[in-house]
Amino acid sequence: MEQAKENQENNTFKEDVIEGLTRFPKRLLSKYFYDKKGDEIFQQIMSMPEYYLTDCEMEILSTQTADISRLFESDYTPFELIELGAGDGKKTKVLLKYMLEKQVDFVYKPIDISHNILEILEKDLNQKLPTLRVKTEIGEYFGVLERLKNYTQRRKVILMLGSNIGNLLHPQAISFLNKLKNTMNDEDILLMGFDQKKSPDKILAAYNDSTKITEAFNFNILERINRELGADFDVKKFMHWPSYNPESGTTKSFLVAKEEMYVYLKDADLTIHFDRWETIHTEISQKYTDDVIQWLANEAGLEIVTSFTDKKAYYKDYVFQKRN
Ligand code: AVI
Repeated sequence: MEQAKENQENNTFKEDVIEGLTRFPKRLLSKYFYDKKGDEIFQQIMSMPEYYLTDCEMEILSTQTADISRLFESDYTPFELIELGAGDGKKTKVLLKYMLEKQVDFVYKPIDISHNILEILEKDLNQKLPTLRVKTEIGEYFGVLERLKNYTQRRKVILMLGSNIGNLLHPQAISFLNKLKNTMNDEDILLMGFDQKKSPDKILAAYNDSTKITEAFNFNILERINRELGADFDVKKFMHWPSYNPESGTTKSFLVAKEEMYVYLKDADLTIHFDRWETIHTEISQKYTDDVIQWLANEAGLEIVTSFTDKKAYYKDYVFQKRN
């Protein structure tokens, strides 16, 4: 990455961390989970038996590949397959492989905030699917969405898998979907994954695994602040506390201070005080019902075309188009 861009991103990280740790209640933005180490831990999360989301979406994409591909092909005009938050692209590869074999005319544009994961993805795709046309884009969704507007005159199929939308509160999700809609032309489609409400035990376990991988994922955000902003967080003094509210469908994760402490952020020359049992909110992971998704779509000016689900109906991929 060019130095200027790296500096700018680092500044935002620093500013957001200062803002988040000096407000009450304290919070850190979940997008900062994903540095090199966070990407690695997230890949481990996706392979955990408790984290059913990945397996369910994999089941959908691998058992209903032909139907999904047919939707994407539409009128057989060439298209750009733009994936927001592509990550390691594990699930998308099933679809990509199928469409290549069927000689569908498309270019794959994976977008992610992590340039590290995109490099890994690009290398892997060049090796495993050498005939695939790939063009990676580094950036945050909202920034990239702006660029998307003037991106291309070709038809767009936009993918956002993994229930990544669930990391946004409903008002933010609506504004995000609305902005996404504004980048779409009439013939474009959007396929988006939504984790569904289900037994609260099952949901909570996905964020509270016994192997403590999710705990390490949350602790890594403090370790990242240590690494990048010269802070002295002692992660052993915190506990990871995920919760699930079955009424709102919101999973909320916290880091809880087990004792009173002061943490020094060298790069900001700032001391942060923590009371005993004070919290840092790190993430929300929203779970959905069909009604809520219909409401989000209405509010955003989108229309539901169809949806795909797994055998247990734990998870759904919805297809949207612009409402006329
Ligand atoms: C990326 N995102 C949809 C994941 C989720 O389920 O909210 C991130 C995650 N956090 C803890 N486990 C997984």
